[in-house]
Amino acid sequence: MELVRVVQGDITKLEVDAIVNAANEQMLGGSGVDGAIHGAAGPQLREACEQVEQWRPGVRCPTGEARITPGFNLPSKWVIHTVGPIWHGGGYGESNYLANCYRNCLQLAVEHDVRSLAFPAISCGVYGFPANRAAMIAHREIASFTMVEDFFDEILLVAFDEAMCRVLQSATASV
Ligand code: APR
Repeated sequence: MELVRVVQGDITKLEVDAIVNAANEQMLGGSGVDGAIHGAAGPQLREACEQVEQWRPGVRCPTGEARITPGFNLPSKWVIHTVGPIWHGGGYGESNYLANCYRNCLQLAVEHDVRSLAFPAISCGVYGFPANRAAMIAHREIASFTMVEDFFDEILLVAFDEAMCRVLQSATASV
């Protein structure tokens, strides 16, 4: 079976070791997938996020980095929170920051013996990152990481809607 699969659905329902949250630097919840994950995990998730050390006032997870907490009421044992870049047109290192998100989430997963992992389309909602470009970055970073690190059983790229599903599938086909 393929290591990396594209699925369509609600990431909070997936029975994997860890799901990735597209958070913001404060890591105290939000809308989109962040809101859905906090809603499904319950209030303990926000309490756990409040315990994450502030790298500077108001910033627990700088853009491009990743932090891990338990999943509480979620089916997944862990939530790996990452903060994608806000799209400002492409000239501000957005692609590198997004690549760092994938790499840092994968590295944190290995450190916590996470064998099955699900990613949402980081930065492709509120943060406005072009979906096609984001999908290529996701596939490229996962492929290069897993070429070296033969560790994972399953990596899911989760599309919330049909349009994103098609984008993620076409990106897979071209890697
Ligand atoms: N399951 C899977 N994917 C989802 C779900 C869900 N339940 N809900 C939303 N998505 C998808 C969106 O359709 C989009 O394709 O997740 C992708 C990322 O969109 P956002 O959640 O808006 O995340 P992002 O663009 O990274 O913006 C992050 O939004 O919610 C706030 O606190 C968050 O400030 C942060 C910002």
